[in-house]
Amino acid sequence: TAPSFRWPYPSLIAHRCGGKLAPENTPAAMRVGAEHGFTMFEYDVKLSKDDVLFLLHDDDLDRTSNGHGPARARTWAELSALDAGSWLSPAFAGERMATLDEVAAFTLQRSIASNVEIKPCPGREAETGTAVALAVQRLWGDAAVPPLLSSFSEDALAAAHVAAPLLPRALLVEAIPVDWRDRLVRHDCVALNVNQKDVTPDLVRDVHEAGYRLCAWTVNDVQRARDLLAWGVDALFTDMLDTIRPPFPARA
Ligand code: G3P
Ligand code: MG
Repeated sequence: TAPSFRWPYPSLIAHRCGGKLAPENTPAAMRVGAEHGFTMFEYDVKLSKDDVLFLLHDDDLDRTSNGHGPARARTWAELSALDAGSWLSPAFAGERMATLDEVAAFTLQRSIASNVEIKPCPGREAETGTAVALAVQRLWGDAAVPPLLSSFSEDALAAAHVAAPLLPRALLVEAIPVDWRDRLVRHDCVALNVNQKDVTPDLVRDVHEAGYRLCAWTVNDVQRARDLLAWGVDALFTDMLDTIRPPFPARA
């Protein structure tokens, strides 16, 4: 049976909060996303060694900070002392990583919707799913628009489902699995979040006919963004905050 969830999300989502214009998943990225008029952010959340939920995409610290090695080995005190901005530009030197609490406060204050991507450190899939779901419930309470939880990890999604069954969930997939319908049913999802290169008009129709929403990451080409929205894709994640920004397509 199809979910009866009323989809409350906009069609454009700022990927990692600030796309390519700011160091991903940081407070600077949140400011840039808001300044560009985005009304929904996507960000990647994991647990520190001492169980603080914070924003980071990679397993390792090297690409997006001056730290080294696996993030899972570091406490929040260690992580929050790192420079998470200089890797992109000296203009962002000294930028710090953000906690889930910080991005909740920022987005709630500005009525920006959230897609909280559960991105567990390897081996911590289920406990991260549980921790994110409980924290989102606590931080957002009965906010008008609840965060959409998503993950590539079905163990994380299953744990989030148990911990907070009423929060909406999306299944993230690297490639479209033949049994995507079964997987969406299993995790009681409202949406399938796919690589934009796999989207066809037929896929949009099939997902909608099954009663689900379809979201596409990461769309950085303006014409492709227009096409996907014209086909009925429900939401796009973009890094190109200066060219693919609300309102899009531009009003005549
Ligand atoms: O959640 C959409 C997108 O962010 C998934 O891929 O690797 O950018 O987290 P990734
Ligand atoms: Mg992500």
